[in-house]
Amino acid sequence: MKNVLFIASEAVPFIKTGGLADVVGSLPACFDKRYFDVRVMIPKYNCMYQKYKDMLEYITNFYMDYNGRSTYVGIFRCQWNGVTFYFIDNEYYFSGESAYTSDMKWDLERFIFFSRAALSALPLIDFHPDIIHCHDWQTGIVPVYLHDSFHEGEFYRDMKSVITIHNLKFQGTWDVKTVQNYTGLSSYYFAPDKLEAYKDANILKGGIVFADAITTVSRTYAEEIKTEFYGEKLDGLLKAREHDLRGIVNGIDYNDYNPETDNFLANKYSKKTFRKEKIKNKRALQDQLGLERNDGAFMIGIVSRLTGQKGIDLVAYIMDELMQEDVQVVVLGTGEEQYENMFRHFDWKYNNRCRANIYYSEELSHKIYGSCDAFLMPSLFEPCGLSQLMALRYGTVPIVRETGGLKDTVIPYNEYEGTGTGFTFTNFNAHEMLNAIRYARGVFVAHRREWNKIIDRGMDADFSWWNSARQYQEMYDWLKP
Ligand code: ADP
Ligand code: GLC
Repeated sequence: MKNVLFIASEAVPFIKTGGLADVVGSLPACFDKRYFDVRVMIPKYNCMYQKYKDMLEYITNFYMDYNGRSTYVGIFRCQWNGVTFYFIDNEYYFSGESAYTSDMKWDLERFIFFSRAALSALPLIDFHPDIIHCHDWQTGIVPVYLHDSFHEGEFYRDMKSVITIHNLKFQGTWDVKTVQNYTGLSSYYFAPDKLEAYKDANILKGGIVFADAITTVSRTYAEEIKTEFYGEKLDGLLKAREHDLRGIVNGIDYNDYNPETDNFLANKYSKKTFRKEKIKNKRALQDQLGLERNDGAFMIGIVSRLTGQKGIDLVAYIMDELMQEDVQVVVLGTGEEQYENMFRHFDWKYNNRCRANIYYSEELSHKIYGSCDAFLMPSLFEPCGLSQLMALRYGTVPIVRETGGLKDTVIPYNEYEGTGTGFTFTNFNAHEMLNAIRYARGVFVAHRREWNKIIDRGMDADFSWWNSARQYQEMYDWLKP
């Protein structure tokens, strides 16, 4: 039996700001339980829903020296979906209104505390991991600690570490002195071949240097990040470590995202019945959002963090042109103010055709996946992307830019061969995107049988976790034969 511990900053159903939570919360249940015991550790945020906080069972607490103070660390536990989740408690650090703040220095202090506390808690939880699997910059310091002070203790000596990069853009960077204080690491670690990058300390870089294996969430992104355009200034390092770097594409939870059983939908449907049944959801959503009741309007959904990564600039650029056609656009997302206001503006300007829902809602997200004709994701970069997988599963045809995981998961429609699951474009160019949307709408309007076959193929594609879980298992076996 191999023991693996995920250490991460978010996990569904407890706390979610993006796809990271979906992965950390749903992947561990999909390992072969005969050979792998995979558990998860996250912070105990006060902003978790009360019903989840009520489920947690207190285990124990201890005090840890951190940033010059003796600091309380509580440990809680709960079972969810057959997986054990541990929670690190400290009110000072985790009582805020959200998982992350806009203050990077404070977040560094919080997540370095969490990483250190997570490792320190291990001897007290009756679970000895063979492999520690970290995710993104928030836990990037863990492999460094395993190389350093923790290495001295018998308990930690043989532990291997993996770091998964879900998004290279965020690296956890601040001046060396501050980070050195938080981490308590010696100056040996703050050199350009270790944590230092361009004069600052960079936590993710430390993780990439010291982890025994590095993964990212699609094959294409694993290649892209070795180039200057996508490498976020770490392309040289990633190239140097390419033999330890692999891309394993994400899956989604096929129970949570299933149009046959989804209680959020006005009307459930399957691969067999979507032709007749899905349109009822479109009408219900039009009614709910106050859009024109119109079966023929090409309804495009967007569920996204509203940031530069997601290609929202392209949408802004062609929105007026797009709105001249028989199209409806339904947006659900939060993020940068300029993008939020941009969609609010279009909502006002094209009131019966565009609806901007600027908030977070699990329920509305499912309704969008289960009602729209197409799903738009024109990302500038996309490590994997889960939304397009959800769209495929719900028979909502993705229109995506060919980058990262989008390229690996959406097969471009080929009208001559009768293949493909979506519509794609290559360059980060608004009119290329508009052409792809127009092409899709053309098929939707004039070749409905063809359109439905695209949906058939999309719903047939298998993006459940099993295949990816197997690849992680192989990697764990390689690390610890
Ligand atoms: P990222 O992690 O970069 O945000 P992904 O496509 O991997 O992108 O995952 C995004 C996840 O967050 C999906 O599950 C999507 O449905 C969800 N999501 C994004 N914005 C919202 C929102 N405003 N309300 C509900 N769910 C959202
Ligand atoms: C990140 C990426 C997204 C990926 C998710 C889960 O948030 O932006 O592409 O799907 O992590 O791995």
